[in-house]
Amino acid sequence: MYAIQTKELVKRFGGFTAVGGISFDVNEGEIFGLLGPNGAGKTTTLSMLATLVKPTSGSGTVNGFDVLKDPHNVRKSIGFVFQEPSCDDLLSGRDNLYLHALMYGVDMHNIKEKIDAAFALVDLADKQNLIVKQYSGGMRRRLELARGLLHQPRVLFLDEPTLGLDPQTRQHLWKYIKKLVKETKVTIIITTHYMEEADQLCDRLAIIDHGKIVALDTPGNLKRKLGGDIIKLKVQSPNVSVIKKLKYVKHVKQDDGMLTITVDDANRHIQDILKKVGRVDNVELRSPTLNDVFLHYTGSEIRDNEAEGGVFERMMHSGNNR
Ligand SMILES: Nc1ncnc2c1ncn2[C@@H]1O[C@H](COP(=O)(O)OP(=O)(O)O)[C@@H](O)[C@H]1O
Ligand SMILES: [Mg+2]
Repeated sequence: MYAIQTKELVKRFGGFTAVGGISFDVNEGEIFGLLGPNGAGKTTTLSMLATLVKPTSGSGTVNGFDVLKDPHNVRKSIGFVFQEPSCDDLLSGRDNLYLHALMYGVDMHNIKEKIDAAFALVDLADKQNLIVKQYSGGMRRRLELARGLLHQPRVLFLDEPTLGLDPQTRQHLWKYIKKLVKETKVTIIITTHYMEEADQLCDRLAIIDHGKIVALDTPGNLKRKLGGDIIKLKVQSPNVSVIKKLKYVKHVKQDDGMLTITVDDANRHIQDILKKVGRVDNVELRSPTLNDVFLHYTGSEIRDNEAEGGVFERMMHSGNNR
């Protein structure tokens, strides 16, 4: 059985299509990623699967339960860590988990042991009695992970779990997410706009742009599929049409005075390209990264400042209601 299945999921807000027909399957025990820029439709997709938002059309199951016909069982079988921080600052970490258990109908039998186990998983046992205000950004995210795991869900939804954290703290959190999967066998569906996060963490990922999946595979296969090496050139007025016609050139992309060329064997052909492309200011040669994959499929790069901020933040600013 798949942990998650979706078929042609669509969400329209008025005349605007936020999610335009998305289909994918997530295996049990897998870390599955949705990678895409701000506004791509990642949170909306998760929200439909978590039964927080009703799909306009299409279908989906989570742990075998239909998101439209059986939302109650879907909710009971999942944990959700939201993009926006949602722990109570003035309560201790432990009281936050206790309150969550009361509010969300977690089986209170052995609740002390369950909370202990959750804290142990994210290494916060020694900090559990501090008020959350005194937690660092990374500790807060770990507390939210622990909270999401409290009722032992079979699928955990993580919406941009490391948004805004510094790179080191982010890496630290990946370690915990991997540990959760290993020790609890939970399935994880995670959204991110960080290439490195998708690369390091996900068994498979879907690249999503403007509400559509544009590619889906393991990070390794996505990179391999691009084929060959990447040559990045800074050229003032490149002869793009000449380069495109070269037999060994697979793909050419022009972006802000940078030319990204995918070729079969860069070492063999670099001289020829340099001769033909025009006046070159800078050369970079390497194997493909997930960033190149993203650029290839979406035609643009994710810049960090574009990617910050979520639905709720935008709703606050625009006074928009759901
Ligand atoms: N409740 C809503 N009402 C109107 N538009 C929305 C609503 N929620 C999301 N959107 C729009 O749908 C698109 C996808 O949003 P979202 O799923 O939050 O993207 P992501 O999580 O990938 O950044 C965005 O353009 C967003 O503004
Ligand atoms: Mg989002």
